[in-house]
Amino acid sequence: MCGIVGYIGTKKAVPVLINGLLSLEYRGYDSAGIAVLNSSKSSDYELDIFRDKGRVKNLQDNKDLQKSDSTIGIAHTRWATHGIPSKENAHPHTNNDKNIAVVHNGIIENYDKLRTFLSNKGYTLYSETDTEVIPNLVDYYYKKNKDFSEAGLLKAVADTLNDLIGSYAIGVLSNNFPDQIIVAKKDSPLVVGKGDGENYIASDIPAVLSHTKNFYFMEDGELAVISKDNIDFYNTFLKKIKKDLKNIEWDSTQSEKNGYDDFMLKEIFEQPKAVLETIGTSFEKDKINLPLDDIKFSKFNKIYIVACGTAMHAGLATKYTFEKFAKIPMEVDVSSEFRYRDPLINEHTLCIFISQSGETADTIAALKLAKSKGSTTIAIVNVIGSSITRLADYVLYTHAGPEIAVASTKAYTCQTTLLNILALYIAENNLNNLDDKEVKELASLKKDILSLPQKIEDALKTADAVKDIAKNIYKKKDVFFIGRNTDYTVSLEASLKLKEISYIHSDAYAAGELKHGSIALMEDSVDVIGIVTNTKILPKTISNLEEVITRGANVYIITDQTIDNKAFKNIISIPKISYMLSPIVSVIPLQLLAYYVAKNKKLDVDKPRNLAKSVTVE
Ligand code: F6R
Repeated sequence: MCGIVGYIGTKKAVPVLINGLLSLEYRGYDSAGIAVLNSSKSSDYELDIFRDKGRVKNLQDNKDLQKSDSTIGIAHTRWATHGIPSKENAHPHTNNDKNIAVVHNGIIENYDKLRTFLSNKGYTLYSETDTEVIPNLVDYYYKKNKDFSEAGLLKAVADTLNDLIGSYAIGVLSNNFPDQIIVAKKDSPLVVGKGDGENYIASDIPAVLSHTKNFYFMEDGELAVISKDNIDFYNTFLKKIKKDLKNIEWDSTQSEKNGYDDFMLKEIFEQPKAVLETIGTSFEKDKINLPLDDIKFSKFNKIYIVACGTAMHAGLATKYTFEKFAKIPMEVDVSSEFRYRDPLINEHTLCIFISQSGETADTIAALKLAKSKGSTTIAIVNVIGSSITRLADYVLYTHAGPEIAVASTKAYTCQTTLLNILALYIAENNLNNLDDKEVKELASLKKDILSLPQKIEDALKTADAVKDIAKNIYKKKDVFFIGRNTDYTVSLEASLKLKEISYIHSDAYAAGELKHGSIALMEDSVDVIGIVTNTKILPKTISNLEEVITRGANVYIITDQTIDNKAFKNIISIPKISYMLSPIVSVIPLQLLAYYVAKNKKLDVDKPRNLAKSVTVE
């Protein structure tokens, strides 16, 4: 989705902006642009805009842009929503007088009405975008208010925001005020990075992480005026407000490929460390230690886990641990469904929201809904300071480090690990619900959690075997994944991973459901991947796999069990662990499979078509 970077300081702005845009490429985009201020002969400043359809490389190759000595600028990568990908629709957009430039992430829902309003006032709109109304409205209010000072421009921006319905993170640059960038945000992320004699703006931390680790997180309705030595924050009524500066521990080298061909492969191999860091200090004492001391878990009679995509699959994978040990009925739902279905929530409901980015629009809306109904909310998030962390009652961080590849891998294993820890934490705080046998099982599961980093390390050794399988699978049109219980939940994740980066059609089925319809799809040359990690139900899944072989399918098995059956020729063995944790291990060869299949198809693994890393619009 769209990305924003901005710089004001003493360095040349263009390299900072271009590097920022390059590090946001992973978000997906179709055009890019930069606005800088160049001093003209008359000692005034000129607002110069460079923008084009296609890659950031077009900007890198632009000799005029490279010549610029400007020390201030705003930049953008656009992911088309209103209007096709084209030079005219690319940001920054300007007012008709071309002295106010705006970059914008989000969607202005009432743009049609605003375009008509501006046309009636004599403005011409040259693009098909919703964004172009913003610089023109700023211009309109700036002239209407007749205050041509710096404060006047800020007031004009605030007046403009009052007219906008929808979501936005904006950066505003004007050659009338060459020492400032104005920013504002609502329902779309924006951070201000603080430097020494220089400051930054960005839609995502990695864009400027190589320059600063100190960030202000803008809240909805806030504005800021940023100069090189100063940052002033304002609320909607233009009253100055104070904000806390947060230090981000991420290392900027974590946002680099470090010798790997792709971020996705690097992130797959980072999982032992990421999971180890996520387990972190929660196991320091005999009891699990989480910052949730003041929650009285006995008051809950229902848990909802709400998330999107892979994060939702992490929730599904841990339903078994929650129900077995926390002994509270749990439902896992997709955020976009939950938010519109009037779910049964009250003060006896615990709602857990999972998000890598912490910016997913549907998950944010679902969280707001749960809060409005009086439930207790816990967020499991990777990006420190992101919107969801500021909305939830309690926050638990996964310590995956920056996840750059669009396809989520290390976030999933960290989320699944942390959710298991949370389930056991709730169980330990409600121990009277457990009998002696269960208390022993709980202790054993805790040991298994501590063994996860090593088990993942061992599972990564399947890479060569998986590479071989990928050489067959990449030619296929359909691939199916089947399993039962936690193996089914990991089948869903494996299927999502494969389809999103290899574009091969794929589905996941609960193995026992095959007979109820989907087995009709089984025929010669169809590939079926079975996940088998639960001893108790092993014979059941094996018998389903035999049924699909009988119908001509090629079967591959990912298992931690001994399968002594000549019908199965392709077995990938993974380390054994409790079935409640097995998704964190069995997913490893499945992530690798998606990766190698996509590589065989020579696809851009890190930036799959039509997808964005952070889905900040509905
Ligand atoms: C798939 C993937 C997505 C995300 C989903 C939620 O590989 O990455 O399905 O899991 O968009 O994103 P977050 O976790 O940022 O809320």
